[in-house]
Amino acid sequence: MLLEVRDVVKEYRIPGQRAIRVLDGVSLDVAEGEHVAIVGRSGAGKTTLLNILGGLDSPTAGEVLVGGEPLFSGKGSARRRERLRAAKIGFIFQSYHLMPELDVVENVMLPAMTGETHVGSPRERAKALLEKVGLGGRLGHLPAELSGGEQQRVALARALMCRPQLILADEPTGNLDALTGTEILKLLFEVNDAPLACVMVTHSAEAAARCDRSLTLERGHLV
Ligand SMILES: Nc1ncnc2c1ncn2[C@@H]1O[C@H](COP(=O)(O)OP(=O)(O)OP(=O)(O)O)[C@@H](O)[C@H]1O
Ligand SMILES: [Mg+2]
Repeated sequence: MLLEVRDVVKEYRIPGQRAIRVLDGVSLDVAEGEHVAIVGRSGAGKTTLLNILGGLDSPTAGEVLVGGEPLFSGKGSARRRERLRAAKIGFIFQSYHLMPELDVVENVMLPAMTGETHVGSPRERAKALLEKVGLGGRLGHLPAELSGGEQQRVALARALMCRPQLILADEPTGNLDALTGTEILKLLFEVNDAPLACVMVTHSAEAAARCDRSLTLERGHLV
């Protein structure tokens, strides 16, 4: 199993207020190459869950295993988490998170700039990926010079940079018109050279329907 989520609980504690339990025992298995949609109301905890799946945030209780290796428990878990995240996981964030002062190629290269990954020539791979997502002609542009859909395509290329096995995507089509959204999904599911699993948070029924499974996050549980 590529991703195993075991009884994940997440509480936020704000001093002087009652703790909010956002996730109340979430379990999920995602197989190699499988596409899972997660839907749910605003504030249901979807972004919180994705951040935990990718090791960007830690659960109050429970565990996440990537390729059988735990992200949060055991000796050296911080380093292991770094390594697994860099080597196996690509992120597409709710609001792109491109670096405004870096051009398109540099943004896509970014995940390959840590010591944890091995991509032959990051610049050449970044250019090839941008070519694939249809932005070969915009390599030297800054994010601010691109439309929303174009920025989302840059974010997709960046997520694929280190040849991940799993993409975590938070509303990858949220800010796009229907046609552009469909194009992004098509790219997401087809642009990679190897089978790619995906957990995608979405409000779009069309996007959810393109996945193998669709789950709803409500009252802290996945159903
Ligand atoms: N750092 C934090 N401290 C306290 N509460 C938080 C924090 N981050 C998120 N929350 C709360 O956790 C709940 C879930 O937030 P989350 O961002 O995961 O929702 P979401 O399902 O992604 O919503 P949306 O569809 O609007 O993006 C919300 O009620 C939010 O206020
Ligand atoms: Mg969210």
